[in-house]
Order: sequence, then C-alpha cells, then structure tokens
Amino acid sequence: MAERKIPWWQKGIIYQIYPRSFKDSNGDGIGDLHGIIEKLEYVKWLGMDAIWISPIYPSPMADFGYDVSDYVGIHPMFGTMEDFERLLGTAHSLDLKVILDFVPNHSSDQHPWFQESKSSRDNPKRDWYVWRDPKPDGGPPNNWLSVFGGIAWEWDGTTEQYYLHSFLKEQPDLNWRNPEVQQAMLDVLRFWLDKGVDGVRIDVIFKIFKDLQLRDNPPRTDGHGHGKNLGEYDSQYHIYDQLQPEAHEVLRAFRRLFDSYGDRVLIGETHLFNWADLVAFYGDRDELHVPFNFALIYLDWDAASFRRVVDEYEAVLPLGAWPNYVLGCHDDHRIATRYGGMAQARTAAMLLLTLRGTPTVYYGEEIGMADVAIPPEQVQDPWGLQVKGIGAGRDPERTPMQWDGSPNAGFTAEGVVPWLPLAPDFATVNVAAEKDDVSSMLTLYRRLIQLRRDMPALHVGQYRPVDGVPADCFVYLRQEGDQRLLVALNFCADERELTLSYLGDGTVMLSTYPDERGHVDLSALVLRPHEGVLIELTAGG
Ligand code: GLC
Repeated sequence: MAERKIPWWQKGIIYQIYPRSFKDSNGDGIGDLHGIIEKLEYVKWLGMDAIWISPIYPSPMADFGYDVSDYVGIHPMFGTMEDFERLLGTAHSLDLKVILDFVPNHSSDQHPWFQESKSSRDNPKRDWYVWRDPKPDGGPPNNWLSVFGGIAWEWDGTTEQYYLHSFLKEQPDLNWRNPEVQQAMLDVLRFWLDKGVDGVRIDVIFKIFKDLQLRDNPPRTDGHGHGKNLGEYDSQYHIYDQLQPEAHEVLRAFRRLFDSYGDRVLIGETHLFNWADLVAFYGDRDELHVPFNFALIYLDWDAASFRRVVDEYEAVLPLGAWPNYVLGCHDDHRIATRYGGMAQARTAAMLLLTLRGTPTVYYGEEIGMADVAIPPEQVQDPWGLQVKGIGAGRDPERTPMQWDGSPNAGFTAEGVVPWLPLAPDFATVNVAAEKDDVSSMLTLYRRLIQLRRDMPALHVGQYRPVDGVPADCFVYLRQEGDQRLLVALNFCADERELTLSYLGDGTVMLSTYPDERGHVDLSALVLRPHEGVLIELTAGG
C-alpha cells in the first residue's frame, strides 16, 4: 500500500524524559545529560521517534527546573552546552528527534530580568513582569489564586507593589503584553532552533495572558471542575487569569518562526477540559501542532467514559487538525496507580498506542512503574509541600528509572542516595529483567509500538467506534485502505463476550495477555478479565 507522506510528529511516538530521574552518570543522585545520552539506544530500541526532556536550564530548582534563571543555558547539574550538543548529535544519528521544554509564563525570581525588574519602579525591565499597587486597604490587587496554593500576589517591600505569580512566589509571571518580552522569548526559541532542536513543549501556554483590567475571578459554584483536584484553586472560575485571546496571536508568531525552519513541532501544555478551549489552540492550523489532550487522565477506569471522551474529541477536532493523547506525565499519578493495577495499565497501553493521533509515553510507564510512596520527610515537590491533604505531591510519579536489579536500580552508582527513593519493587520491575520476558509490560509496549509503526491503519488510519458491545468494553476500528483492525478492550474484571458477526473473522495480532490467540471468530469473541486485543480483520469480512 502506498503510504501517505506524513510529518514525523504525526507518525511518531514521543517519549517524555524527566531528566532528574532518568540516569545519573556522575554520582550526585540526580540524572543528567550524559545519563540520557547513555540511554538513547534504549529509547531507540523501544521504538520511539522523539524525546521531550523536561527543563534542563539553569534554575534554583524551586519547581525543579520550571523556574528558569537563564533560558539559553544548561544547568551545571545536568551538564554543559557541549553535553547538550552531543546529546542532540547522538539522538539525530539514531534518527531520534529532540524536543525541549519552554517555560514562557514565568521565569525564576533569580532570573536577571526579574532582579532588574524588582530593583526599582523605573527600571527599564519593571514592566517585564506584572506589578500592581495594593488595594486601598493594602491587600492584593485582586482575588487570583496560585495553582500551588494561596494568593497569586507577593508583596515587595522595597518598591511597595505586588507582583503576580501563577505558581510559586519564586516563579514571577512575565508580562506578555510587553513587546520586549515577546521579542526576547522569540529570540530564545530562535537560539534553540538554530542549534537543531526539533521542537518545544510549551509550559502552561494558556496562562501567558491575563485580563487587561485584572478583574476578580468569579467564585465557582459547581464543584471542582473536570481536571485534577487542585484544592482551593478550584474555588474560582479561571476566566480572567488565563485563556485570553492574545495568546493566540503570540502562538501564530511562534508558528511562523517554526515553519521557517521546516519540519519542527510546536507542542503545548493545554491543561484544559473544555473542548472549545482546547481545540482553539490548533488555531486555523497556524498555532500548535499538538495541543496536549489530557482528557483521559482524570477519568475513572470506565469504558463508556473513555469512549465518550475519544468520540467527542474526534468530533470537535477542527478540519485537518491532528489528535493526540497523553496518559502520563510528570504532573500526574502513574497509570497503574491511577487506573487500579497492572492489568488496567496493560489495557491502557493498548488504548494509548492504538488510538488515532500522536501518543506520549512518560518514562517508566513502559516497564509498569507505579507511584512510589514518599515518606513525609523526603517530600521534594513544592506543590506537595504547600498544598496538603488532596494527594497533591508529584514526587510519587517522578522516582528514578529502574534499569536493572542492582543496588539503586542502575539509576545511579551503589552507595549514592538518589534524589527521590526508588520503588520497592525495582528488583523485578526493571528494564533488564523485562527485556526478554514475553509476559512483561516492556515486551507489550515494544510490540504495540512496533505494530503502530508497521501498520498504516494504526498510525494514519480512520477511527470508528463499534456499537452493540457490552457496557464494560470499548471497541473500535482502525482502517487505512484495505487494512482493517479491530481493537477490543475489556475494562472489567470479568469475562465479556462480544458478538460482532458482521465483522467476520480475523487474527489476533496482539493481546494484553502474553499468550498467542491466533484466528478468532467474531460472532463469539471472548475477552478475558481486563483483556485488550488487537485483531486484523480478514479481507472482505
Ligand atoms: C506545568 C508543569 C509543571 C510545573 C508548572 C509550573 O504545569 O508541567 O510541572 O510545575 O507548569 O511551571
């Protein structure tokens, strides 16, 4: 079958690396660029097309790199610019793309820009951040809240004004209404594109512009909304402190820049749970290529909810826009923990890698890493420390990658204390142990990835949900030309029988159970508890 010419980021799979936790090469207990370079062959072997690396820039690490103090440097903890260039060269020689994290909403309070800005009211960089007078009673300018807890304004006693911080007070928000800020950030992007970086993932892109009049957000009256439970932050409708139309103008400028380099990808962290808000970030195919779709992350493990979300998203996608799904990242609990166990995680893997659109795989999901319980005295995440009581900490999903069964799991040298504790099960849940085990999660991921790469129906084909199946099952067809695949996922802990006589028969290409099922008659397809199967339908069936 003649294959359509499709961009790499549509056909490919993105692997997210949290650099502190991937591989430590210098024995300080924290991952680094050399460590990533060492493991690129593994990423390639896994079948990935691109890596996205969470921030590696100089940073005081108040929010583990999402507080940048130099946008065009490398944190010495991770290595040097030469190391980064080596990483890029090695990745490219393996035909792996490299995507960096770009954090435009806020810098670190240690960034020279903010240091200047706060030095006096008439400093030329004063207006690079959002400064305001107190209310007549001395209180903050409005009622906006920080995602990380408390009010989003910090008082500066020296210049007697408040500055805005949507996250930590160590992360002051940049003022994107100032054209000099826009110019400086475009220069940053140009710097990395010139180096040969293949794309960026833009942090909280929907927050960069705020209401010009800084109006109060109205109180929320309908519970905590759709996404993650954010505690007090969910007590408001966030209509004035984010999602302002001006962000789209800026994205169009980013896109023009990226297009001028050809073949680069613009991904955005669009943590939005209203379809209209999310798909607006595709623009008229002139903004983000991939506005991350997190809608599946916060669902209960329920077939009908998953189908509803996929069908709705397919229906609202603008013409020509390419879908994508994220099931795991550094901000959310691990898949196995979230959906109730390893059997569910195996089915979720099949779902993620057989849906239409670019999948992202968070490091460690491919070996079945689960959340690691962090003793209170070892909590590192500032959000976990500041917002308590709603399971807020993100450390459990950021623990060291488990490479083998040696002390410290091959993440760092023996005797070194890793920055977060290792999972208690690392002796069995690790790359070395799973590599040649046909029943392992790693083998399942590799086979799914291989099938996705090989079969046009999976990487470019249409998606069509299948009706008339038991309520606990999510079943869909993927088709491209003559190639027709059926994906049948059983979300429950009991057997389910599907009667799909009109589809004829087919061959099971892969089951989430490790045995081989071979030929199946679809008039009575039995799915075992939590089983997912990928079936190639017989031509003409
Ligand atoms: C994004 C990042 C998260 C970070 C926050 C503030 O949500 O994914 O890790 O803490 O932005 O930069």
